[in-house]
Amino acid sequence: MKDNTMNKRFEGRVALVTGGARGIGRGVVNQLAREGAVVGILDLKLDLAEAAAREVIAAGGQAMAFGGDVAQRATLADAAAALKARHGRLDVLVNNAMWVRYGAISDISAEALQRMVGTGFFSVVWGIQVAAEHMTEGGSVVNVASAAAFLGIPQAMIYCGVKSGVLGLTRSAAVDLGPKGIRVNAVAPGSVPTEGVSINVDASMVEKRIAKTPMRRLGTVQDIASAVCYLASSESDWVTGECIKVDGGVTHAFL
Ligand SMILES: NC(=O)c1ccc[n+]([C@@H]2O[C@H](COP(=O)([O-])OP(=O)(O)OC[C@H]3O[C@@H](n4cnc5c(N)ncnc54)[C@H](O)[C@@H]3O)[C@@H](O)[C@H]2O)c1
Repeated sequence: MKDNTMNKRFEGRVALVTGGARGIGRGVVNQLAREGAVVGILDLKLDLAEAAAREVIAAGGQAMAFGGDVAQRATLADAAAALKARHGRLDVLVNNAMWVRYGAISDISAEALQRMVGTGFFSVVWGIQVAAEHMTEGGSVVNVASAAAFLGIPQAMIYCGVKSGVLGLTRSAAVDLGPKGIRVNAVAPGSVPTEGVSINVDASMVEKRIAKTPMRRLGTVQDIASAVCYLASSESDWVTGECIKVDGGVTHAFL
């Protein structure tokens, strides 16, 4: 397997990763930083974002921590403006944060609906808008969607809907922002064990998912970070409006 960790594809680049304090976002932060980017780590949990930033700096990288709710436009706008003021540019935005709860259709509450749509959809709209404003020299937006955008996952109607919507945002924004040199793509992960997943999926369901996945394993944070960093880097300079599924083939398996 190609080891990109020795590359420095992001030297001189500035990136912002939402939900970067843990899970998939944290993996993306670490790879971007290892490859030379200054990374803004934006998370609802400022203490965790600060801890992640300290870890990046201790490893010789550069990072800034930001706290706030990505459902609010100002959270993204302020973080992007602060990165630009301090480092002069914004090249990469990874829209990764989301809050998820699975449940029966009859149990969906207005609060849960609002929080899922706010963190998973509004945040991507605001992120793209902020990227369009700040990526004055071009750039790359990577939206973290899900295999759920292609599947009917039981008890996950809102999640499937939000992630399908993210793919629509990705395609249309790619068409609008291409002439400005801003690419917009998505990565659709299959199951990766993180805190977000452990809250929603019990052990027996995890076994079923592995059995149904052609590659017969769950994904790793690094599996997803590699694809995100490919789309964030100039290696994918002529790729826009696309979605890369990183799911061990699960979305192709009928039974
Ligand atoms: N883990 C998987 O199996 C999987 C599969 C497909 C897609 N995804 C997607 O990958 C992304 C990351 O998932 P994860 O499993 O790492 O999740 P996670 O819950 O482990 O981490 C999500 C991070 O986002 C932050 N966050 C939540 N709400 C926020 C808000 N309102 N504002 C700012 N930050 C907020 C959390 O504090 C946390 O640090 C999500 O978009 C998720 O839908 C995950």
